[in-house]
Amino acid sequence: MVTGGAGYVGSVSVAALLAAGHEVTVLDDLSTGHADAVPEGATLHEGSYGDDALVRGILEGARIEAILHCAARSLVGESTRDPGKYYRDNVAGGVALLESARASGVGRMVFSSTAAVYGVPEATPIPEEAPLRPINPYGETKRTLESALAWYGRAYGLRSVTLRYFNVAGATEDLGEDHDPETHLIPNVLAAAAGRRDLTVFGDDYPTPDGTCIRDYIHVADLAAAHLRAIEATTPGDARTDEPLVCNLGNGGGFSVREVLTAAGNVVGRPVPHTIGERRAGDPPVLVASAERASEVLGWRPLRPSIEEMVGSAWAWVRAHPDGYGD
Ligand SMILES: NC(=O)c1ccc[n+]([C@@H]2O[C@H](COP(=O)([O-])OP(=O)(O)OC[C@H]3O[C@@H](n4cnc5c(N)ncnc54)[C@H](O)[C@@H]3O)[C@@H](O)[C@H]2O)c1
Repeated sequence: MVTGGAGYVGSVSVAALLAAGHEVTVLDDLSTGHADAVPEGATLHEGSYGDDALVRGILEGARIEAILHCAARSLVGESTRDPGKYYRDNVAGGVALLESARASGVGRMVFSSTAAVYGVPEATPIPEEAPLRPINPYGETKRTLESALAWYGRAYGLRSVTLRYFNVAGATEDLGEDHDPETHLIPNVLAAAAGRRDLTVFGDDYPTPDGTCIRDYIHVADLAAAHLRAIEATTPGDARTDEPLVCNLGNGGGFSVREVLTAAGNVVGRPVPHTIGERRAGDPPVLVASAERASEVLGWRPLRPSIEEMVGSAWAWVRAHPDGYGD
């Protein structure tokens, strides 16, 4: 069962699971997702992962073996304005999901966590052992559910893999990013390139080679491949999840905002209009993951690491779907 399987990351992961021969049930309340994003071949149940009766009905009815928990509230700014929503959905809802799984005897889970659990890191590339000091309720609520997974593992034998994503980007032919509001850089750069919005770069005086912030980007199809490997690693008897496993997923290198703009300009065929604004509070100059553990333990490596490929595939999807999923 994939929670959030009608969302950006979830839908591409569902497609990868189906392609690998798995039977997939999607549980999504469609709050930020789209029914049309659920790949053909998966069964969609509309509702919340915090609804115990619904979840247990699905887990037992469809004889679910493992849960990929992609659904969440995930807007940093909103989380600061309305932390209650984040504690209710990400923490209380997440624990309700763990309890439903326990009651139904489902003992395998892969959790979409985030680089936001690290807060402002002391050093980059960030290893998984770095201190977790989230600076907003979004990161804090993800960290809280990570801890719950670890304790459920020790006490109840839940096998889990927590994947800490950095910035997800790109599209497959059929599935892409359609958020409202959109807070991610690449879709916003492409919307500016298409004349659909203004774009402000937040600061160009950071201590980086071109003065703009550097972030780690990962292609959504590479992320989906990591999910498949993570789910396999939760198979009973697989020593990799005898203890709860936590892996960063990133490129191991990063791209500056200016490099993203240049790549987008090359893909689109003209420079992307933008203005330079003030720095945003709480934005570290460089956020890059060490993805060595994912490579060593899961045997995973990004196959589409170039920014041109990420931006290019996102642009192809936007051109083919100018109104997103159209709902
Ligand atoms: N996109 C990124 O760059 C990124 C980076 C780091 C972490 N993440 C994490 O990855 C996950 C997926 O992100 P995304 O970008 O695909 O987001 P998304 O908003 O596109 O997808 C989330 C999906 O979950 C569904 N959902 C939300 N609350 C629900 C609930 N209570 N019950 C059932 N369904 C619910 C939404 O309708 C949506 O389809 C999130 O957990 C997010 O925190 C994403």
